[in-house]
This record gives sequence, structure tokens and C-alpha cells, in this order.
Amino acid sequence: GNGKFFVGGNWKCNGSKESITRLVSDLNSATLETDVDVVVAPPFVYLDLVKSSLTYRIEISSQNSWIGKGGAFTGEISVEQLTDIGCKWVILGHSERRHIIGENDEFIGKKAAYALSQGLRVIACIGELLEEREAGNTFDVCFKQLKAYSDAIPSWDAVVIAYEPVWAIGTGKVATPEQAQEVHVACRDWLKKNVSAEVASKTRIIYGGSVNGSNCAELAKKEDIDGFLVGGASLKGPEFATIVNSVR
Ligand code: G3H
Repeated sequence: GNGKFFVGGNWKCNGSKESITRLVSDLNSATLETDVDVVVAPPFVYLDLVKSSLTYRIEISSQNSWIGKGGAFTGEISVEQLTDIGCKWVILGHSERRHIIGENDEFIGKKAAYALSQGLRVIACIGELLEEREAGNTFDVCFKQLKAYSDAIPSWDAVVIAYEPVWAIGTGKVATPEQAQEVHVACRDWLKKNVSAEVASKTRIIYGGSVNGSNCAELAKKEDIDGFLVGGASLKGPEFATIVNSVR
């Protein structure tokens, strides 16, 4: 393992005041292993509610942020606003934003750089599509996405990399521990060659894509899987706690 185990819950565009209040209360009463960084990413409109009711044990992330300083950008949420309400992290480069919204590497890189410049830590997502995997391009796709972050940001200190193969997201088709481990090692190797040996050994690389309470333990055993980014299963407090507690 490399650094402290990290488990993020990405709630995506789910929940209501009622269901989120229940989820927060389940999380507040869950027993979580101490040696794990735990973060949840509620939808923007519930960030403040979650921040004010959730235990300090769990940090808050947003699911996006604006590319620069706030201003006349209708519908956007600025990094300054996020840090103002006590948000510590932002998820960037998620496949749903890349492939449904159309965000590209350069735009994502700029967002990451701006977030870091304001003290917001970044969960930097990467991952290949099914056709890219089938064409044998998994590593190339991941390296290209890593390079875009690397070209844009001055330091990897406040970054966690989330490897999320797109074919595994929300499909119930989790990557095997071997498949995930293989890509994590390749990414670490890329960091070693293109950034530094120190960054390669210190940067956490977490896995996302159909992680649940039943498959997390096997995945967590792999040397280079430093935690998880959880979607669907993070909406259930007890199951999310099981995933957090899968730390080796
Ligand atoms: O950010 C989380 C990932 O997209 C995984 O989502 O656990 O629902 O497959 P999932």
C-alpha cells in the first residue's frame, strides 16, 4: 500500500433532503476504522446540509468545480464557494463528466490546477472505455489522462488518483483485483518515469467501478489499490462502512 487508505463516496445526482438526512445519520452512527481517510461527495445543493450535520470524521467533497475564480458564470459553483463552506475535496475528470457532459483533458487539467491553487484537494479520475480496453489501449488512455493532469498541476501532494474503468461504472461488472492492480501498477510506473519516484510511491491510487460490500475485501488486498471511489454502494450507510473497513 502507498499512504493511508482512502475511501470516497460519490453520491452523484442522487438523493433528497429526506434520504440524505437518513444517510448522514447512518454514517454518523457507523463504526469506521481509524486508519482510513473517508470522504463523501453529495450533490451541490445538499453540501451545506451534509457539512453541518455529518460527523467531522468524514470530509466533504464536491463533484465538480468551476475552472477559475467565480464571477459571471451562470450555473457554476466556484472553488472559493466550496472552500468557504468547508468542502475539502473535489472530484474531477469523472467519466460521466468526460463522456456525458463532454469535458476534455485540457479543461479538466485547468480545473484541477485552479482547485489546488485554492487549497481544495483533488480526486483525479481516469479510466478507459470498453472499446478502448478491447482494442488494447487501456494503458495509453490512462497515461494520456494522467499526462493532462501532470502538465497542468504544479504538485501531486493534494491529489488522489481514481482509476475507474468506464465499463465497470454502475454496471455491476467490477474489475477483477488483477485487472485493477495491473493498471494501478502501470500508472505508478508512469508517475515514476514522468514525475518522480517520490510522487509515484506517495500518491494514492484508488479504484472505482461497481465496488460493493462483497467485493471490496478482495480488491483491498492488492498492493497498489489504496482505496476506493464508490458510487451506488455509497448511498447505503452500512455498506459504505463495510467498504471503509475493508482496509488491510
Ligand atoms: O465515482 C464513482 C464511480 O463512478 C463508481 O460508481 O460504484 O456506482 O459503479 P459505481
